[in-house]
Amino acid sequence: MPEQPRAALGATGTLRLPARVHFGYGVRAQLPEVVRVHGRRVLAVLDPFLTRTPYLPDTVGALTSAGLDVRVYSDITPELPVDTLDAAATVAREYGADVILAIGGGSALDAAKLIALLSTHGGPLNRYYGENLVPGPVVPVVAVPTTAGTGSEVTPVAVVTDPARELKVGVSSPFLVPAAAVVDPELTLGSPATVTAYSGIDALVHAAESYTAREFELDWSAALPVFTGRNALIEPIALRAARHLGPWLKVAVREPANRRARHEVAMGSLLGGIAFGSTGTHLCHALQYPIGALTKTPHGLGTGLMLPYVLDAISAEDGIAERVAAIGAALDGIPVTRSSPGRTVARVAELIRAIGVPATLAEIGVTREQLPQIADLALKSARLIAIAPIEPTRERLLDILNRARHGVLTDRRVA
Ligand SMILES: NC(=O)c1ccc[n+]([C@@H]2O[C@H](COP(=O)([O-])OP(=O)(O)OC[C@H]3O[C@@H](n4cnc5c(N)ncnc54)[C@H](O)[C@@H]3O)[C@@H](O)[C@H]2O)c1
Ligand SMILES: [Fe+2]
Repeated sequence: MPEQPRAALGATGTLRLPARVHFGYGVRAQLPEVVRVHGRRVLAVLDPFLTRTPYLPDTVGALTSAGLDVRVYSDITPELPVDTLDAAATVAREYGADVILAIGGGSALDAAKLIALLSTHGGPLNRYYGENLVPGPVVPVVAVPTTAGTGSEVTPVAVVTDPARELKVGVSSPFLVPAAAVVDPELTLGSPATVTAYSGIDALVHAAESYTAREFELDWSAALPVFTGRNALIEPIALRAARHLGPWLKVAVREPANRRARHEVAMGSLLGGIAFGSTGTHLCHALQYPIGALTKTPHGLGTGLMLPYVLDAISAEDGIAERVAAIGAALDGIPVTRSSPGRTVARVAELIRAIGVPATLAEIGVTREQLPQIADLALKSARLIAIAPIEPTRERLLDILNRARHGVLTDRRVA
């Protein structure tokens, strides 16, 4: 067959997802059904906040009534220090867990994925840092998020804080994709405003970075990378995520009990997770790792803060400006012909301000002297940098960081 130009053939796509995904108010009632497919002995890895809610006794009661044996583990620390995982993995192994049920924020879900990994293949965890180093399947994880943003319930990655490393590190492998995701917005109703804001804006960053990911020529005869770059299957999903978040994220932050807003943001988060779990993320994430380490600020605060500046910078690239415009159109539900890159950047800057994310790096205490160090450390996140749609030279990163420090966007000043 004569070789055809790639554009004529169209782009390729990959999705690696949980075998089951349930979404919506009330779906948590499916949990006993979903869990018992995998066996009888259940290690419940629970976010500590759940111990103060009726969800814990209700869930354990429903599982035991279904004939399952449940052991609870809830010693989870936010941002997940690595040394907290070994004890949990030992509990899982000694108990002989058939399945891990994870309920909580991104930290708890990531903890469960890594407990599944360590209890199946042994430690130390640093053997698996990076991509595709998990040797095989792990104990199945059923993931139930109580925050809306990380998308960890559907993604192939878990992130930890390792004191031996300058930055947070990720373990990425298709084997870490949970076996099932049960996303019930009811569980997010009590989430505090800052958690709602920072997790929720991270979902938009996932969608935006997924939609603007670099396109790779994949070698389909070889093992695939965990993150495949731009991907035909996820494009509508990424835009749809933005559509849910655009009108509703600020409502969820201002009115934590607004059920419609929680539903919409949970949907945006799930779709953002599905999107970036296949494509990967890029510059906001590469820059957040060192920013977060230096300023001790949460993941979503840093990725959200950087989003307008990164969208602004990548808009200068041929073919990316239209994509940035499409994200803005999706956020507001308007035709793409009425959108533009500048309008999108302004809209995102307005959104992050409305939900209380700081507008500049100066506001979170980053000094001019720290910018070169941040750029150098970001460049070390090779898997994220590779997915950026522009050539991310040190100078370009420094330019983005300088603008973010002073609040300077191409079309206007934000601070
Ligand atoms: N694996 C992935 O794909 C992925 C993607 C993005 C971020 N992450 C990671 O996820 C972590 C952040 O997750 P997060 O934003 O969900 O926050 P989190 O899990 O760290 O939780 C933040 C705080 O909120 C509490 N909390 C959670 N749900 C609550 C609820 N419904 N009501 C009251 N309190 C609640 C937790 O107990 C905790 O104190 C970071 O470690 C980040 O690196 C992972
Ligand atoms: Fe993120």
